Amino acid sequence: MTQDELKQAVAQAAADYVAEHAPEGAIIGVGTGSTANFFIDALAPLKERYRGAVASSEATRKRLEGHGIAVFDLNEVEHIPVYVDGADEVDAGLNMVKGGGGALTREKIVAAVADLFVCIADGSKLVDTMGKFPLPVEVIPMARAHVARQLVKLGGRPVLREGFVTDNGNLILDVHGLSISDPKGLEAQLNQIVGVVTNGLFAMRPANLLLLGTAEGVRRIG
Ligand code: A5P
Repeated sequence: MTQDELKQAVAQAAADYVAEHAPEGAIIGVGTGSTANFFIDALAPLKERYRGAVASSEATRKRLEGHGIAVFDLNEVEHIPVYVDGADEVDAGLNMVKGGGGALTREKIVAAVADLFVCIADGSKLVDTMGKFPLPVEVIPMARAHVARQLVKLGGRPVLREGFVTDNGNLILDVHGLSISDPKGLEAQLNQIVGVVTNGLFAMRPANLLLLGTAEGVRRIG
């Protein structure tokens, strides 16, 4: 199976999971990235079942609307039963590194509101220890150099994502060289750096369920 076929299989499994667990008329949280795009496509045939979605990025909003799925402002929404999103890395504790697509801040906000976080990923994303994938950190532009110096003190090698501005008008530093043995601790530590908007560690609010695409089928972890 190709990587895209694995992503498609987990996206379909997630759409089935949502149909089973979210009540009719619910508003669904939708993530960002290539795997989330397959999920949006799998959600589309069931769109009459839901009131609509909250999008974690402008790209996702456009794709949802392209399918005729209503997109709500999060401030208008009280309850999101389930949020479905991909990850750049995920460990056995369902902690994740996210933000390869630069949407980490809105992803973390929507995830914070949702009752359940379903992570969808092909098998290559499951790792023993996170950190091989450079950790994205969204920063306020004027704090870029300050934040970079603090990240170096923590043992990382921050690299500015060239030519990229987030949906929130900020920059991304991709931090190389971290071996993340304490995801929750590092997430908290990074949150303390003045000028950091969000870091791509999702450990304080990990996924509740991982749907992992493998050659043997979709594995459910969690
Ligand atoms: C977007 O900012 C990310 O958090 C994505 O969820 C992550 O990069 C996974 O993307 P793919 O599904 O494209 O691998």
